[in-house]
Amino acid sequence: MADNGNEGSNSLSIRDNRTGRDYEIEILEGDVIRAMDLRQIKVEESDFGMMSYDPAFTNTASTRSTVTYIDGGAGILQYRGYPIEQLAERSSFLEVGYLLLKGELPTQGELDQFTHDVTFHTYLHENITELFRAFRYDAHAMSMVISGVAALSTFYPDAKDIDDANQRWQQIVRLLAKMPTLAAYAFRHHRGLPYVYPENELSYTANFLSMLFRIGAREYRPSPVLEQALEVLFILHADHEQNCSTSTMRMIGSSNADPYSAVAGAMGALYGPLHGGANEAVLRMLGRIGSVDNIPDFMEGVKRREERLMGFGHRVYKAYDPRASIIKRTADDVFEVTGRNPLLDIALELEKIALNEDFFVERNLYPNVDFYSGIIYQAMGFPVEMFPVLFAIPRTVGWLAQWEEMLIDPERRIARPRQIFVGAEERDYVPIGDRG
Ligand code: CMC
Repeated sequence: MADNGNEGSNSLSIRDNRTGRDYEIEILEGDVIRAMDLRQIKVEESDFGMMSYDPAFTNTASTRSTVTYIDGGAGILQYRGYPIEQLAERSSFLEVGYLLLKGELPTQGELDQFTHDVTFHTYLHENITELFRAFRYDAHAMSMVISGVAALSTFYPDAKDIDDANQRWQQIVRLLAKMPTLAAYAFRHHRGLPYVYPENELSYTANFLSMLFRIGAREYRPSPVLEQALEVLFILHADHEQNCSTSTMRMIGSSNADPYSAVAGAMGALYGPLHGGANEAVLRMLGRIGSVDNIPDFMEGVKRREERLMGFGHRVYKAYDPRASIIKRTADDVFEVTGRNPLLDIALELEKIALNEDFFVERNLYPNVDFYSGIIYQAMGFPVEMFPVLFAIPRTVGWLAQWEEMLIDPERRIARPRQIFVGAEERDYVPIGDRG
């Protein structure tokens, strides 16, 4: 390649062969250029200028973030610099939540205060129960919780004051506190059971389990093993940088919408089977396969592209998802208490085959976070409709940390991608009677 005299400088030299003009574009940290720097490249002065085309944002950084780091090739996940393995083993969900929101692990005093604040706000306005009662008996839990979160926006109009840091914090605490209550109410509705009020002296996860499973006035105390398993699962799901739902959260938040509306939107994005709905889809798939004997036929169908092996593959991880390894270990602890979920045998066999077959190896398809989580949830007594909700509860803290980061970003503007218009050229309106 010809030497243009710029070797060694932190820039990209671009020659536009249409005009013969050269451009120097600054390289930011990593291998990143500012997309707006391309805009200067044009043929005529009146042209719009060069854009990049990136459907599904596979190669576009939409923000500079300090929250979560992923190295997909090496299977590394860190929250604020702390490896997920250490947090899952040694931390609690609320401590991790504080870390994600504030950037540092809390002192004991800070954690006590945060726990107290979250605990204090677990109750829902009674009108929310009326809203939930209006749903059909078989309404999907995720749709109910999405509606409940959106409805909370009407109870807290001050949440619209998104430029007031104290207001933001108040809503963050409320959202974290109320998500398990909304989720538990949706579950009880489905079962036709009366709603159980929060018990605020319990831990975040124990209180959630109590609201789900308590029968009558009898005290409910969950197995410490199951409580701890849920803590670990919640930690693993707390954040995952700029995925579909988090980008939705930021996108909605960028219009200055209140956080309840933004979380409801993010939950909508999470609900899809390619994202947080995958855990439900995995369980339905395992149920459909039914027995280890049917796996070869099923796998042939996947290879013929008739369907996907749900719970496998990831846009970012091209190695084993570190969350899946931790979940697999957690499953053993849970099954000691609940008994083994027979679907585990099918899952293990699917994984064994997939890790050895060219189709999956060539495409770097490894188990992701959703492959084993559903098997644990089912063993713990959750119906499949609750699985996406169980993803949404902990992810709320990640969404809120990313929302807060977006709002205080000096580069914050309303998110608004461009398009390449490929539709019809201008044409005249034809009255309906004159149309072909
Ligand atoms: N089963 C079979 N083939 C697959 C799968 C799968 N689960 N995932 C990807 N592929 C194939 C796909 O057909 C394509 O093959 P080819 O290049 O020959 O056309 C190749 O692998 C690349 O797939 P892609 O769809 O371009 O990859 P993507 O990065 O756009 O999609 C994904 C990522 C997670 C949506 C996808 O892997 C998938 O659909 N997985 C199943 C759903 C799932 O488990 N989702 C949960 C993701 S983890 C939780 C979360 O964070 O949301």
